[in-house]
Amino acid sequence: MASASDGWKLFLPYLSFIFVILYFTHSHFVTKLFIGSETVRIKKTPDLPLRFRSDGTFKILQVADMHFGSGIITSCRDVLDSDFEYCSDLNTTRFLKRLIEAENPDFVAFTGDNIFGPSTTDAAESMFKAFGPAMESGLPWAAVLGNHDQESTMNREELMSLISLMDYSVSQVNPWSDGLPNPTQHGITSNIDGFGNYHLRVYGAPGSMLANSSIMNLYFLDSGDRAVYQGKRTYGWIKESQLNWLRNVAIEFQAQKRDPLPFSDAFPPPAPPALAFFHIPIPETRQLFYQEIVGEFQEGVACSSVNSGVLKTFVSMGDVKAVFMGHDHKNDFCGNLDGIWFCYGGGFGYHAYGKAGWPRRARIILAELQKGQSSWMGVEKIRTWKRLDDEKFSRIDEQILWDSRLSR
Ligand SMILES: *[C@@H]1O[C@H](CO)[C@@H](O)[C@H](O)[C@H]1NC(C)=O
Ligand SMILES: *[C@@H]1O[C@H](CO)[C@@H](O)[C@H](O)[C@H]1NC(C)=O
Repeated sequence: MASASDGWKLFLPYLSFIFVILYFTHSHFVTKLFIGSETVRIKKTPDLPLRFRSDGTFKILQVADMHFGSGIITSCRDVLDSDFEYCSDLNTTRFLKRLIEAENPDFVAFTGDNIFGPSTTDAAESMFKAFGPAMESGLPWAAVLGNHDQESTMNREELMSLISLMDYSVSQVNPWSDGLPNPTQHGITSNIDGFGNYHLRVYGAPGSMLANSSIMNLYFLDSGDRAVYQGKRTYGWIKESQLNWLRNVAIEFQAQKRDPLPFSDAFPPPAPPALAFFHIPIPETRQLFYQEIVGEFQEGVACSSVNSGVLKTFVSMGDVKAVFMGHDHKNDFCGNLDGIWFCYGGGFGYHAYGKAGWPRRARIILAELQKGQSSWMGVEKIRTWKRLDDEKFSRIDEQILWDSRLSR
């Protein structure tokens, strides 16, 4: 005889069954319909604009040629035999973390070959791993592409879009057209070669007379990958369209009002200096083999056979004081061409070719402000040094790249 309690015994499993169905429907279907906060994240952005610290400094870490592959399964190249077994891309990650921790920079500039395409089957994943420490640090960072970044699953435009959307990245695919003389055009300019041409302004120290003025400019240029010129294979180069854009940026930058002007006529402010970042060295870099340099020149300059007039353009612009490049991992020197310093970052990544026993390295650039009577002024000095990923974390080759008091 069925009692009322038997009905309840059946009802409870039935209720549980309904509940389970609802639960699965909700978790597997509903959350896909309604975008929850866990499935879509908005890019984290750093405090902007970039600005000098209240101690009057702005420090940049240059990372050249990480050549990141797939992570732990990607082995190291050109390390001592005794170091080979436990060495992978993770050593590259560790070095980047070590630098960020020890140098505490204000900004990180990646000068290309961030990933090594042939060693990954997923460019996006490799990029996220490579830039991971920068994204986690919360520091503003920017990157340009080298000649190996696009050698897997994404092209150069896609890579720069992805990089521009990563946490704390201030990279741009290409300049906004309001950097150009015709301000009626809006959006990204399409008439410029390459992907990853943009500029960033660095503002004066907080609370200073120049707190609302940009007093240093950072230029990023796409030096391309490979090309064929007059039937011969060669490396990419910076094109006239890019140089033309840059000239306009420099003109606009120098013409901007730096108000309120705390300077008298007897004490004109120095023109704001600029620093440029790109991957492939310019052909004139070869001349530095015969000149005095700081650092080491250990391999041929693998540049383009085309000289597109980058040096001439920089000289005529007048604001570029130093250029930071990568590409040749065994060169880590700074040399001066027509008054402008051209500096290699030195090979950074453990999966990149290098020289066994010659530690992986990175470059630090420090800009310092001039102290006025009551407040920080414009940039007074730019210096650089390198850090080696050795036991002592050696700091080497410190030099002054620009001193406004000597260039007046
Ligand atoms: C790579 O990292 C591992 C683990 O920390 C370390 O044992 C090894 O010495 C590193 N290799 C090099 C070449 O730095
Ligand atoms: C800069 O701008 C802020 C906010 O508008 C203002 O409070 C400050 O007085 C300005 N500083 C200078 C030096 O103009």
